Amino acid sequence: MDELHAHRKDEHVFITQKQYQADAQNGLNQIRLLPNNLPEISFSEVDYKTTLAGIEMKIPFFINAMSGGSKTTAQINQKLATAAAKTGLAMATGSQSIALRYPETAPGFKIVRKTLPHGLVIGNLGAGHGLHDAKNAIKMLKADILELHLNAAQEIVMSEGDRTFFWKDNIREIVGRLGRPVLIKEVGFGISPTTLSKLKELGVKYVDLSGRGGTNFAKIENQRLHGEDFSVLNNFGLTTAETLIGSQFFQKDFSFTASGGIRNALDIVKCLVLGADNVGISGLFLHTVIKKDVSGLISLINTLKHQVKAIMTILGCHDITELRQTDYVLSVELENFKKQLHKH
Ligand code: FNR
Repeated sequence: MDELHAHRKDEHVFITQKQYQADAQNGLNQIRLLPNNLPEISFSEVDYKTTLAGIEMKIPFFINAMSGGSKTTAQINQKLATAAAKTGLAMATGSQSIALRYPETAPGFKIVRKTLPHGLVIGNLGAGHGLHDAKNAIKMLKADILELHLNAAQEIVMSEGDRTFFWKDNIREIVGRLGRPVLIKEVGFGISPTTLSKLKELGVKYVDLSGRGGTNFAKIENQRLHGEDFSVLNNFGLTTAETLIGSQFFQKDFSFTASGGIRNALDIVKCLVLGADNVGISGLFLHTVIKKDVSGLISLINTLKHQVKAIMTILGCHDITELRQTDYVLSVELENFKKQLHKH
């Protein structure tokens, strides 16, 4: 096996932990939900079932792509999957690219399906891969959905990263012929409205906006410092709040996942109010499982489940459709951002 690739997986986990901040800069504090002081509802009436890439899901958030490809990250996958199995969450693995190239690393991904035999399992590859690899990635995990990540900014700051980015043909073919839902995602720099227009033309229906504000691969790669210093990109991209505002012009075209720096139940609810059908969480769950093990992660997930319902209750919302009607106001900056998008 290629030690360099496995080592990089471990470094990513190690450095995300070092850089983890409880206070995320996801921009969601620039969105304020207005109270509904006459909720006319009881907690037991709230049902937050939703869909992920068109598949029904009982809980509106899930464990997003992170892990697999080394001994340590295989163990992390097992722990994350155990927590997912105990709480009913869906789970994505990290990029399976390494397992397609070095099959001896596949068990560290397959452990997720083994632990979640009846759960919703999401595979993951970069958009540089073609249909053949995509089919093998699905087969490896008996995955229900495939995430394809667009990570040009991450690759360019990595000294060993890709330098050519011709992805549109792969996306069109995989979306058209995989026979499974394909969720196009970023890795924390955010997907722009212009990109959404292009994805629409390629036949894409499901997009994870994956905005800036939590895990930051520009900062991570700068800390690895195997190449040139690229801190100029530390604040590159759109925050999670900005990606959600941008997505509102495309509500009829896609089902959206929101992610990037999600830290608590209010963040989750705000993403749903702004139009996302579900929310992906990576950094927070990784940090929790490393610091507090599986039991700590289970208890966090249960708290989030309870608090999302509690917030829906005080907003007087029976379900996510009603949640979308919640009044909110944007900060001056976000309102300005929205106005400028409108001009395009
Ligand atoms: C990631 N992420 C990621 N995404 C992806 O599509 N394929 C991958 O292999 C990985 N690998 C990975 C490793 C680690 C250690 C982390 C923390 C994250 C990106 C992830 O799915 C998500 O888009 C971003 O991390 C933003 O969400 P958070 O972390 O701010 O909640």
